[in-house]
Amino acid sequence: MTNTIDLRSDTVTLPTDEMRVAMARAVVGDDVFGEDPSVNELEALAASMLGQEAGLFVPTGTMANLVAVLTHTQKGDEIFVEADSHIYCNEAGSMSAVAGAMPHPIAGRVGYIAPEQLREAIRPPNVHYPVSRLVCLENTHNRAGGIPFTPQQMDAICVTAHELGLAVHVDGARIFNAAVALGVPAPTLVRHADSVMFCVSKGLSAPVGSVVVGSRAFIDRARRFRKMVGGGMRQAGVIAAAGVVALKTMVGRLAEDHANARALAEGIGDLPGLSVDLDRVRTNMVQVHVTGPFTAAEFCGWLRETGVLVLPSGPTTIRMVTHRHISASDVSRALEAIRHTAALPARR
Ligand SMILES: Cc1ncc(COP(=O)(O)O)c(C=O)c1O
Repeated sequence: MTNTIDLRSDTVTLPTDEMRVAMARAVVGDDVFGEDPSVNELEALAASMLGQEAGLFVPTGTMANLVAVLTHTQKGDEIFVEADSHIYCNEAGSMSAVAGAMPHPIAGRVGYIAPEQLREAIRPPNVHYPVSRLVCLENTHNRAGGIPFTPQQMDAICVTAHELGLAVHVDGARIFNAAVALGVPAPTLVRHADSVMFCVSKGLSAPVGSVVVGSRAFIDRARRFRKMVGGGMRQAGVIAAAGVVALKTMVGRLAEDHANARALAEGIGDLPGLSVDLDRVRTNMVQVHVTGPFTAAEFCGWLRETGVLVLPSGPTTIRMVTHRHISASDVSRALEAIRHTAALPARR
C-alpha cells in the first residue's frame, strides 16, 4: 500500500537521510572495550540532555528498563509500578522472569501514582514481606494516552519515594514529547530520578536504540548488567550515529506531531460510535473510545481497507499515534476515512 497512513505507532518512523549518512560514515570501535567514539558521543549527549552524569546505549527500551531494574534491585525485591505501565504490561514479565523482582501494581490516576498512593501501598519492614526497593514511573504514559506528567508531579512522587527509602526509575521512552508538550527542559522532569531511560527509536526517528542515564556510579554498574543480558554490542556506533542525529535534529519537531494529534482528536470528536476525551490529548497519541455498535478490532479492520492503519489498545479502545511521516494533510485524509468508516454500521 503506497498511500498508507500508518498511525499504529511512532516506532514505524524511518531514519532520515542525515541519519543514513551519519551511519555510513560513523567512526566506530569495539564498544564492549568502551572504544566506540559514536556510542560514547551518544551516551554523553543523552546524559547531558537529561541533566545526568552518564549514559548507556542499549538496543531497546525494554532492555533499558530491564538493565535499570537489575541495577537497582536484588532477587525478591518489590517494585512499585503503575498498573497500566509499559514495564508492567508490555515487557514480557522481564522484571520477574529475569530480574527476579516482584512487581506491586498501583492503579494510578490517569497513569500517575500519587504520593499518598505510594505511602498507602508500602509496607513496614517485616520478615514476611519483600524488601521494597524501587518505584517505576512512565512519562509520557503510553496506555493513559500519551499523558505528560509535570515537573511538580514528578518531584512530588520522587521526593516521597526517597523518603520511603525507594529509588526511582523513569521509563521516559517519550520523555522529550513530555518536555516539548509542557514547555519545560527535559532535565527538570527527571531532576530527582535515580535513573531514566528514553528511546531514540520512537518519535525521534532513529532506527534502533535507547539510552539509560543516571549517575556515573549507576551507569558503571548498569554496564555489567547490559553485558549479562546480552546487550554488549561491538561496533554499535553504526546505529548510535543515527541516535546522535535524532537527538540533535528531531526533538524540536515533536510539537508538529502534537498539533497533528490534536487536529485528529478534534476531528474524531463525537463521530457515531467513537469518542475522544480531548483533555487527554496532550502529546502525539489519541485514545479513541468505541461506544459501538462495533468493537475496536472490527473498526480497525474496516479502517485498514481504506489504507489507514491503527491498533486496538483494548476491546473498546483504539490508539492512534502521530509521527514524522504524518502530515497535516494525512490527518485530513485519515479523518475522511474514519468518518466514512464510522458511518458504515448505520448503512448496513
Ligand atoms: C512507554 C514505553 N516504554 C518502553 C517501551 C519499550 O521500547 P522497545 O519497544 O524499544 O522495547 C515502549 C515501547 O513502545 C514504550 O511505549
